Amino acid sequence: MTTITIQPITAEDTLLLRHSVLWPDKPFDYVRLPDDEQGQHVGGFVEGKLVAVISLFVDKPTAVARFRKFATHPNFQNQGIGTQLLNQVIGQARQADTIELWCDARLTAGAFYERFGMQADGAVFYKGDIAYSRFMMKLC
Ligand SMILES: CC(C)(COP(=O)(O)OP(=O)(O)OC[C@H]1O[C@@H](n2cnc3c(N)ncnc32)[C@H](O)[C@@H]1OP(=O)(O)O)[C@@H](O)C(=O)NCCC(=O)NCCS
Repeated sequence: MTTITIQPITAEDTLLLRHSVLWPDKPFDYVRLPDDEQGQHVGGFVEGKLVAVISLFVDKPTAVARFRKFATHPNFQNQGIGTQLLNQVIGQARQADTIELWCDARLTAGAFYERFGMQADGAVFYKGDIAYSRFMMKLC
């Protein structure tokens, strides 16, 4: 069985996986976010190698949290790493006393998010030819 370690990482640490998994056809800087320095970035490690990333952004005034740029290296998908990362981020959002957690989800990942109690909340939209919808869950 794969031993997975979940731990905080820096925004810079996320970039290679964000780019290679999510947006390989875009310039590298496309995966940097303007508010990356305010984010809580979490990594999934297997044998010391970073194989999955996710980034949480908490908006204190509205008590709403959002996660972005969730990616597991293809060789390590379907092994439960994303589940651990998302559970970690849900826990961190709760600890920050947020009332809602949302993401812009690729529809290909919709069934995965529904398993966590997230629901599509809005119209389908496109970034390039990738279909998305906002998914959200209440935390209180
Ligand atoms: C979405 C993503 C981050 C999930 O990460 P992951 O590490 O593969 O997540 P998990 O392994 O926890 O779960 C993925 C699937 O494997 C299943 N699974 C979980 N643990 C498993 C295990 N030990 N053995 C086999 N399958 C398992 C889950 O039930 C889930 O099934 P589903 O696809 O039917 O929902 C990953 O698939 C990914 O990077 N996809 C490409 C980029 C992307 O779409 N990112 C999300 C943008 S919104």
